[in-house]
Amino acid sequence: MSEPAPIPDGAIPQAADLIHEAFADWRDRFGAITTIARRHFEGRDWQAMQRDSARRLDLYGEAVGEAIALLTPVLRERLEERALWGGMRDAYAARIRDRGDAGLAETFFNSISRRLFRTIGVEPRVEFVGPPEPGAGPAAGAGVTITFRREGEDAASLVHLVRSLLKHYEFAAGWDDFDGDARRITGLLEADPAARRLEAIDMALPVFFRGKGAYLVGRAHTPAGPLPFLLALVNPDGKVVVDALLLTEDEVSIVFSFARSYFFAEMERPRDLVEFLAAIMPRKPIAELYNAVGCDKHGKTMLYRTLLHHLETTDDRFVVAPGQRGMVMCVFALPGLDVVFKVIRDQFAAPKTVTHEEVREKYRLVFRHDRAGRLVDAQEFEHLTFDRARFDPDLLAMLLDLAPSTVSVAGDRVVIRHLYTERRLTPLDVYLKSAPPEKARLAVLDYGQVLRDLAATNIFPGDMLPKNFGVSRHGRLIFYDYDELCLLSDCRFRYLPAPSEDWEEGAAEPSFHVGEKDIFPEEFRAFLGFRGALLEEFLKAHGALLDARFWNEMQERHRRGEVVDIYPYGTVRRLRE
Ligand SMILES: Nc1ncnc2c1ncn2[C@@H]1O[C@H](COP(=O)(O)OP(=O)(O)O)[C@@H](O)[C@H]1O
Ligand SMILES: [Mg+2]
Repeated sequence: MSEPAPIPDGAIPQAADLIHEAFADWRDRFGAITTIARRHFEGRDWQAMQRDSARRLDLYGEAVGEAIALLTPVLRERLEERALWGGMRDAYAARIRDRGDAGLAETFFNSISRRLFRTIGVEPRVEFVGPPEPGAGPAAGAGVTITFRREGEDAASLVHLVRSLLKHYEFAAGWDDFDGDARRITGLLEADPAARRLEAIDMALPVFFRGKGAYLVGRAHTPAGPLPFLLALVNPDGKVVVDALLLTEDEVSIVFSFARSYFFAEMERPRDLVEFLAAIMPRKPIAELYNAVGCDKHGKTMLYRTLLHHLETTDDRFVVAPGQRGMVMCVFALPGLDVVFKVIRDQFAAPKTVTHEEVREKYRLVFRHDRAGRLVDAQEFEHLTFDRARFDPDLLAMLLDLAPSTVSVAGDRVVIRHLYTERRLTPLDVYLKSAPPEKARLAVLDYGQVLRDLAATNIFPGDMLPKNFGVSRHGRLIFYDYDELCLLSDCRFRYLPAPSEDWEEGAAEPSFHVGEKDIFPEEFRAFLGFRGALLEEFLKAHGALLDARFWNEMQERHRRGEVVDIYPYGTVRRLRE
């Protein structure tokens, strides 16, 4: 066998430079589209905001593709030589060391090498592994926050602080009622026993834009300890309005939920921003915070490292997830980790007729769509491998039986060609079995609200059975079964015809024509599976959902191009209601 041609002098540093440039390019494009998000908010261009939210998700894959295209002529036939990539990784590490986004830059390198090598598991020679983040880094929040101090203890000093805070965030659209907003905020702070004594507020410098909202996020210092501080801004008529003030970790956490689309936030140092957010929401996984600020690939890296760390530091084994077995998915979990793993079955149980590709297409649709706080975010992984001993034998037998084209065993390793991860929730059917009546009532009411919120974003969930909804730790309902999900605008909502009309007397089957996308809301009652008092509560609050009129009206709003409001906080928090 002939030796491969020698690497031309300077090819390794040149290749490292190319990857670095491609990374910097992606960051620039990411920054530019974020800057434009502010303009969309100021100009109320909600359609453009939606378009750019989806568009931004493409930038990363494009940048990785471009990097590979640039590397090909430099490395030529040695592009896929592992030894070379070790040298490139070291050369690249030196280039990114002083960047404020070095963690993201590592992930970018890994994305390229994993795409080229179709790496199974992790290959330390050609990618960055190990500690969650490189370097010691500055203190949390350094360079990404601004502090507003209170000068005095009286009411006037609080007003003054609030006014200077608002003034700091200037919008081209201007404030609708600056004095009134400052007064209302101060009033609420005064009414809160902890907030009224606040001494200072640290605020994240960037504004967080998403959908029709903009958010100012910070943390107040009080003698009783730190207090989350979030202002939600809206722009209903061309001027900026402070719509809500949130002062609890739970409420802020819900704004940053894994069931919502990612924010646009300008940031030079994503890690510092994420650390600041983590200080405000200490229970939220770091991976989800990276996702929330739009760095979903790095979020995925962090999730993966969390998973490895969990396996290294516990004896946890993968087991079948609690709840009913899926007809399309095999779902499993690690008892000590808040994550589920979903593998697509080779064959779907009847009556499912979708194909594998259609299932994946549905997950892609959800990924790019407004998730409305009601659709769980899913991360897609390829070529994972774990120790066989970490699988409960029943689970492994099930996976090999139901998904043999995706899951295989090689010696003492289990190899999984493709899976999704999601935040682990409590399936609603499981939840209702043991929930006290009041919690069950709230869950059933929120179930209806999920249907409304999804309809507001032009989504029809398809399979509405309770087992396809999960309950979050905040008691919020979130949908996760996507194989029958579709756009509301693609459905036809109909009333059941009266039997006398065109339903033959005594016929077992309806004789009127039912199209594939025909939906009869009157039939929903059968899907709900709620009985007695719960059903009554549901019908009282959400009876409208059983009427085709609700759905047809919603379709009409979407047809007109309306972007329907969904607030990530309760009506009681709205300042002007
Ligand atoms: N995110 C999740 N958290 C907790 N359990 C889940 C989650 N996703 C799915 N499950 C469990 O797995 C089952 C099957 O998953 P699902 O996504 O509904 O697939 P299928 O299309 O096969 O029904 C659910 O009914 C539920 O019990
Ligand atoms: Mg299901």
